[in-house]
Amino acid sequence: MSNAFYDAGEARAAKVNDLFAAIARRYDLINDLQSFGLHRLWKRRVVRLAQIQPGDRALDLCCGTGDIAFALARQGATTTGLDFSPQMLEVAAVRSQNPNPGFQAPTYLQGDAQQLPFPDSSFDIVTVGYGLRNLTSWERGLDEMHRVAKPGARLIVLDFGKPANALWRALYFTHLRCSVPLIGLLFCGNASAYAYILESLKHYPAQLAVAEKMRGLKLANVRVINLLGGAMAINYGEKPK
Ligand SMILES: C[S@@+](CC[C@H](N)C(=O)[O-])C[C@H]1O[C@@H](n2cnc3c(N)ncnc32)[C@H](O)[C@@H]1O
Repeated sequence: MSNAFYDAGEARAAKVNDLFAAIARRYDLINDLQSFGLHRLWKRRVVRLAQIQPGDRALDLCCGTGDIAFALARQGATTTGLDFSPQMLEVAAVRSQNPNPGFQAPTYLQGDAQQLPFPDSSFDIVTVGYGLRNLTSWERGLDEMHRVAKPGARLIVLDFGKPANALWRALYFTHLRCSVPLIGLLFCGNASAYAYILESLKHYPAQLAVAEKMRGLKLANVRVINLLGGAMAINYGEKPK
């Protein structure tokens, strides 16, 4: 099945950019609806896994409207959120306008997750939530996460997964094929933007391949944390000291 926002070739990034420009203002609402609010719990889990220490510097890639970046900052990390969509970053910036006194709001930066504007070994924590799947090359994205991570840094990836159980996978893919685009149509006037999730997931090798790549990068303590029977997954690894 083809999708207006999916391109396997050179137009991939431009189409993904168009997609997020179109849905930025409704992105947070639809996230809550399509995941029944559960994405908030999964993002909290990411932040717990980051094991933030005083003085830590965190980078959240594909930060979108800033959920994870903001949570990392609230826990005390000096945080940078990077995304290539000005429309998503605009929402993130508005949300950060009135941070509670006592913690430093994230700095937001427009850029490409596959070509990061940071020197090697810059961050203690590098996260990406629902971003790797959208890159033209998810492997390149992980390479960059690894490059900018300091020795001892935690690398954490949250994304849609592929359940191992065939029946559960079929049910879950049906939810992505039918209910999620319907929610997109009703609340954002755009079914195609939300049908993109399933299309992009089909082309993304998900949690097992990400773990394999993390092992290939010689990360330590590589773990896959399956959520909802593998429908979502967190990949975790540490850059050796
Ligand atoms: C599904 S949203 C995730 C937003 C946020 N991390 C969250 O968990 O809610 C994916 C984000 O990835 C961004 N993105 C996609 N490709 C990118 C790239 N090559 N470089 C930087 N950001 C990218 C999009 O603009 C979008 O904001």
